[in-house]
Amino acid sequence: MLISYLLAFLYVSNYIHLAKSLNQPLPSLKHTTTINAAQKTSVSLHQSVTWKQNSSGLQTYIVLVHPPSENTPNGCEKWYKSFLPATNSKLIYSYTNVVSGFAAKLTHEDVEEMKTKPGFVHAYPDRLLALLTTHTPDFLGISSASSLWNGSNFGQSIIIGVLDTGVLPTHPSFNDQGMPPPPAKWKGVCQFKNCNNKLIGARNYVQGQSSKAPFDNVGHGTHTASTAGGMFVKNSDIIGQATGTAAGMAPYAHLAMYKVCTDIGCYDSDILAGMDAAVSDGVDILSLSLGGSSRPFYSDSIAIGAFGAVEKGVIVSCAAGNSGPSYGTLSNEAPWILTVGASTINRVLRTTVKLGNGQQFNGESAYQPQGFRSIPRPLVYPGSINSSAATCKIGSLKGINVRGKVVICDDGDVDRVLKGSVVKKAGGVAMILANQAVEGYTTLASVNVLPASHVSYEDGLEIKTYISSNPKPMASIFFQGTLLGVTPAPVTGYFTSRGPNQADPSILKPDIIGPGVNILAAWPFLVGAKSRFNMISGTSMATPHLTGIAALLKHSHPDWSPAAIKSAIMTSSEITDNDGNVILDHTLNTADFFTVGAGHVNPSKANYPGLVYDIKPISYVSYLCGLNYTDKQVSAITRRPIICSTIQSISGSELNYPSFMVFLTASNNYTTVVHRTVTNVGLPKSTYTLEITPPPIGVSMIVNPKSLKFTKAKQELQFSVTFSSTNNNTGGLSFFETLLTWVSSDKSITVRSPVMVGLS
Ligand SMILES: *[C@@H]1O[C@H](CO)[C@@H](O)[C@H](O)[C@H]1NC(C)=O
Ligand SMILES: *[C@@H]1O[C@H](CO)[C@@H](O)[C@H](O)[C@H]1NC(C)=O
Ligand SMILES: *[C@@H]1O[C@H](CO)[C@@H](O)[C@H](O)[C@H]1NC(C)=O
Ligand SMILES: *[C@@H]1O[C@H](CO)[C@@H](O)[C@H](O)[C@H]1NC(C)=O
Ligand SMILES: *[C@@H]1O[C@H](CO)[C@@H](O)[C@H](O)[C@H]1NC(C)=O
Ligand SMILES: *[C@@H]1O[C@H](CO)[C@@H](O)[C@H](O)[C@H]1NC(C)=O
Repeated sequence: MLISYLLAFLYVSNYIHLAKSLNQPLPSLKHTTTINAAQKTSVSLHQSVTWKQNSSGLQTYIVLVHPPSENTPNGCEKWYKSFLPATNSKLIYSYTNVVSGFAAKLTHEDVEEMKTKPGFVHAYPDRLLALLTTHTPDFLGISSASSLWNGSNFGQSIIIGVLDTGVLPTHPSFNDQGMPPPPAKWKGVCQFKNCNNKLIGARNYVQGQSSKAPFDNVGHGTHTASTAGGMFVKNSDIIGQATGTAAGMAPYAHLAMYKVCTDIGCYDSDILAGMDAAVSDGVDILSLSLGGSSRPFYSDSIAIGAFGAVEKGVIVSCAAGNSGPSYGTLSNEAPWILTVGASTINRVLRTTVKLGNGQQFNGESAYQPQGFRSIPRPLVYPGSINSSAATCKIGSLKGINVRGKVVICDDGDVDRVLKGSVVKKAGGVAMILANQAVEGYTTLASVNVLPASHVSYEDGLEIKTYISSNPKPMASIFFQGTLLGVTPAPVTGYFTSRGPNQADPSILKPDIIGPGVNILAAWPFLVGAKSRFNMISGTSMATPHLTGIAALLKHSHPDWSPAAIKSAIMTSSEITDNDGNVILDHTLNTADFFTVGAGHVNPSKANYPGLVYDIKPISYVSYLCGLNYTDKQVSAITRRPIICSTIQSISGSELNYPSFMVFLTASNNYTTVVHRTVTNVGLPKSTYTLEITPPPIGVSMIVNPKSLKFTKAKQELQFSVTFSSTNNNTGGLSFFETLLTWVSSDKSITVRSPVMVGLS
């Protein structure tokens, strides 16, 4: 008997016609199947692509080949070398664990010649990818009694591998007081003299640096590693603010650093070498706060390396990218990766601007000088005198009188802290940093060189209106220190990359958001007089939060697959903020699923998800064939020859993912059916019912059955969801969102999936 139910789209008012609402064209959803080495992808804040090519025409290529047959003497390296031309070329890396192939310096002609050799699968040029806390354990609710920390023993015995810029091993966040030695399976190497039971491994995979210990000359790696698994450090702060005991998400987990990045970024070939080593060393989780622009998975090194890692049971947590708020800007889109976006926490380092007319505007700054006199001073906007001085870039304030004044500068052009030095040098007393329109309400607490306040775009406009309508505009700045419990939080950062997924539009990404704005964590250099902690923002900061939380869950549930842990994190997440409203974005409008994915991580709930949407690695192979990749393209990812015609392929919407993304178009007659299987990881005898809300106009969603009755642990039950629409005249592609939620009979557990329907 078929029991059908219309499940409602939760936000009927949240009908989003993306192309219209953002006044920008929707990204094309077609696969890019040709890769043009000469073509540079547009360079944005943290994403860039460059090719290592020198004047002799040699450049580094990643070459993927079938594995050697079992009776090949001397194994991989000899087999790999058999592909190399006799002259000039050079083998850089032989990969053996997560990739079948190598990196080598080759000419374009060399690569063409290789393509004719048996066993060749795929080759693409190396590219440069970009690098994309005291308080966050409390904000995330894992530090309170009876919490996940207690339940998972702080992540003890779990090994987190971090691919980043290296680490400062002597930082107090990496002390190992009270930590046991790593588990016996650990086979890694330490290139420092001072590794210990916290920092158990450290290797340099930056080409040309392999003999040097992987010290962090950038700061990024020390920050991310300590966020994932930093030890408790009392009295940490940033120049007197945000004081408290700092700790990573999994303070008793072991850390291994694989240095694959420098200040200019990270090369594919080095990243693959790091992933290859980490998996063979025995890490449980890989954390990559780096990424590039979208590519088909068979030319995306992180996607390829992550596939091999996930097949071996290693969870791979990656940054979503910092190319927001435009749509279609994600990195790390493969369904076997946990893709992490960034949002604010409920702590601000508050500064308040008070205008001569009494108007007040709250902003942020980490530098909060004690002796500053908060008296009214003349206020000036250089941009109203000479438009090229609006951002206070170097040299721009010449001929503009800012002496003794409060100066308002627009964000953009140059580093935010650098603007402060320009203002200070020109004699300005204080700076108001005003966001650009795209940055909305996301403000950053920086270590400014003068009294300053970073305000939102809207507030900046109001301050400028006041300036232009007053003959003698005045302003004072008040420093209010560190405020906790600020609402609303979380709010997504303007920069966090947005879906839709370009590599495969049928998988909704990002998966989850976590703390990534104004995050305090370990830093290798002194900040101010005494502290080695720094506050920085990015999806790079959100990623290690999720990595550490995954470590805690791995400790509590050693038998859960990477897909099960991802499902637990996603279906238990929060979709509301600390005001009880649906999570907002940087414009303070409701954030859509292309921004938040399943929502904001709730670690304690993720420990008891009730049901999980599990995926066996073999399903990803069926999925790759369903993408209509060629056999060679699929084999490039799977590290073994795959013939798609011999296996059953599935479409992306049929992958057993914890979220739903479907398209209703003329080609499917505005109807599609998808199936899911949920596994009971809660009480053996338990019943879940579907949660129902009023239906949307024009789109229906029928779930069958509407109730799932489990009688034993690990039992699997299936359901189907039929999507259909009679509305085939929307004038372009529009997206509808809703939620599909299974609620346990005692209402203690909700297993919630975001659902996105694209209609054209
Ligand atoms: C180009 O690369 C080759 C191989 O690594 C190297 O021998 C050569 O010196 C390089 N040439 C330049 C100009 O950098
Ligand atoms: C941790 O959990 C145990 C039981 O699981 C309990 O006895 C203990 O009080 C808890 N400790 C804290 C600090 O909550
Ligand atoms: C405005 O600034 C630019 C760059 O600093 C300068 O070249 C130009 O002369 C200035 N214009 C005026 C009217 O001062
Ligand atoms: C793959 O090809 C089949 C048959 O032509 C088509 O129905 C399907 O939509 C294609 N899938 C993708 C992801 O392009
Ligand atoms: C398309 O859907 C309509 C309405 O459900 C139905 O009447 C029609 O037969 C379908 N056409 C095809 C080709 O399936
Ligand atoms: C789509 O619209 C056309 C023209 O408006 C109509 O003839 C057709 O029946 C519609 N199809 C569906 C599935 O509603």
